[in-house]
Amino acid sequence: MDGAPERKRGIRSFVLRAGRTTAAQQRALEELWPVFGLPREPLPLDLPALFGRQAPVVLEIGFGNGDTLVQQAVLNPDSDYIGVEVHRPGIGHCLLGIERAGIRNLRIIEHDALDVLRYQFREGSLSRINLYFPDPWPKKRHHKRRIVQPAFLELAASRLIAGGLLMIATDWAGYAEHIDEVLAASELFRVAERREHAGDAPLDRPTTRFEKRGLGRGHRIWDWRLVRI
Ligand SMILES: C[S@@+](CC[C@H](N)C(=O)[O-])C[C@H]1O[C@@H](n2cnc3c(N)ncnc32)[C@H](O)[C@@H]1O
Repeated sequence: MDGAPERKRGIRSFVLRAGRTTAAQQRALEELWPVFGLPREPLPLDLPALFGRQAPVVLEIGFGNGDTLVQQAVLNPDSDYIGVEVHRPGIGHCLLGIERAGIRNLRIIEHDALDVLRYQFREGSLSRINLYFPDPWPKKRHHKRRIVQPAFLELAASRLIAGGLLMIATDWAGYAEHIDEVLAASELFRVAERREHAGDAPLDRPTTRFEKRGLGRGHRIWDWRLVRI
């Protein structure tokens, strides 16, 4: 996907973190990736062929260590899940979770989710997109790195079916304000629900690892359920 507009622009919503890959994660990356990993390539995925059925497909962007993603795939066996992440130890951890849970309705792509959304999903192919605790980029000079921007909403809306859901959560007050502003300026999504809570009322999702960390630091949580108009 070299030469794609996102790459040329050079503004990314992540910085690749160095992180130790454990022996178990390394084993998972070698043995389980061929089964549950998907190539990153500028070609739309054939979702029914991939999962061997016609079912709603949920995309999770930046799944971290994948525990929440695996839990959702276990709880919703009638949906198919695709997780996108760039942090390799997290991908190894998620593969181990998939193996432990014995599920077949989850696949992983290691790449920038913006490229994946643009090139690997056809228009109207997703029933839901989960964006849980995206990197908040608190410094003003980094705000342009925040993934929730008008262009992101446009891309997400185009990949969702009519009535499809975009679920967002953050523990960062400044990012919550920014998300409210971007949503107010958009005519692509209707805010079906917006919750501010103390970690006790997550909106249709399990509590995530980053959320727990934020709660431990005394943060509040904001959740949105957005419906594609
Ligand atoms: C703050 S963490 C939250 C992880 C997880 N969702 C949770 O709540 O525990 C944000 C994650 O998003 C990933 N990420 C950020 N931008 C991304 C992108 N454009 N494509 C894929 N992953 C991305 C980062 O690598 C990081 O693991």
